[in-house]
Amino acid sequence: MIHGCGPLGTRGSHRLCVAPMMDCTDRHARTFLRSFGPDIVLYTEMVTAAALLHGNRERLLAFDPCEHPVALQLGGNDPRELARAARMGAEAGFDEINLNVGCPSDRVRSGRFGACLMREPERVADCIAAMREQVSVPVTVKCRLGVDDHDSKEHLHGFVDRVADAGCTLFIIHARKAILGGLSPKENREIPPLQYHRVHALAAHRRDLEIVINGGLKTVTDAERELRHTHGVMLGREAYGRPEVLGTLADALLPSDRDAVTGADAITAYRPYLAARLAEGVPLHAMTRHLLGLFSGRPGARQFRRILSEQGCRDGAGIEVLDRALAAVDPTLARAA
Ligand SMILES: Cc1cc2nc3c(=O)[nH]c(=O)nc-3n(C[C@H](O)[C@H](O)[C@H](O)COP(=O)(O)O)c2cc1C
Repeated sequence: MIHGCGPLGTRGSHRLCVAPMMDCTDRHARTFLRSFGPDIVLYTEMVTAAALLHGNRERLLAFDPCEHPVALQLGGNDPRELARAARMGAEAGFDEINLNVGCPSDRVRSGRFGACLMREPERVADCIAAMREQVSVPVTVKCRLGVDDHDSKEHLHGFVDRVADAGCTLFIIHARKAILGGLSPKENREIPPLQYHRVHALAAHRRDLEIVINGGLKTVTDAERELRHTHGVMLGREAYGRPEVLGTLADALLPSDRDAVTGADAITAYRPYLAARLAEGVPLHAMTRHLLGLFSGRPGARQFRRILSEQGCRDGAGIEVLDRALAAVDPTLARAA
């Protein structure tokens, strides 16, 4: 099934998404990843409602206008706190507020939010209802297939039905369950098996909802296969670790009349942002660390990474370090960028 793209909240707007990833999808990474296509939906790292209410709100909500369409992912379990945090996010200009119901980390679990909320559909529904009262942008959920032994089809469908009753119309499903206690977050992204067919069954069960599938997707073939059953695909590690794949995916999946964006094109687009932030005092490495996955497999890629990692961290490192790194891959790139 082929959908066009539109503003978030219209059907088909989430055909291609980049997953929220702590310590990865910060504002610099999102700006860089945006270069691969204007309609890719980007997600922030998870921000807890409490951090927004009590912490440095301006820093936590800062983003560049080029990042649209961009969703703020919130963590929390208190409807009133989440409602206030959602409102702050919407007022800051985010296009969507997403609730994290998939994170299995101990820290998150001890705060009784993230994946363990899959056991509490009533509470999640209350959170969604409270958030929706405060904002006009879509409020969405990212969850797993289940947690521990709460992972039957009935449980997942019941969870989604209850949360949809509260007005959530888009669910991002990481197609594996979470095992709480015993597995690290990393293991929880690898050990529980992927079960795409269960996401397909959910999409068939609730054709009125939009279902975005996530987990282990890497190629255009993977994405096209999944889009026969779901409304969108979300890539995390592959998009961050081999960002050029986003150019290929956007070219194949999203309506556009331009050629696929290459890694070199993306750097060219990122460069003015880099220069502007450098002038504001942002260290080069904070921005170029997100480029390390570029050119993987190409001659010179290892040197590209080494130059960026070693020289990019030095005090006062400027854009010439990026040029030196690019020259290791292809001397014409340094001049073209
Ligand atoms: C480093 C890292 C940080 C992550 N942080 C978050 C997060 O903040 N919120 C969230 O919902 N998922 C988070 N995830 C999970 C991803 O969003 C995604 O669900 C998972 O990696 C599976 O997708 P993938 O196989 O395409 O990477 C994180 C994943 C990674 C690798």
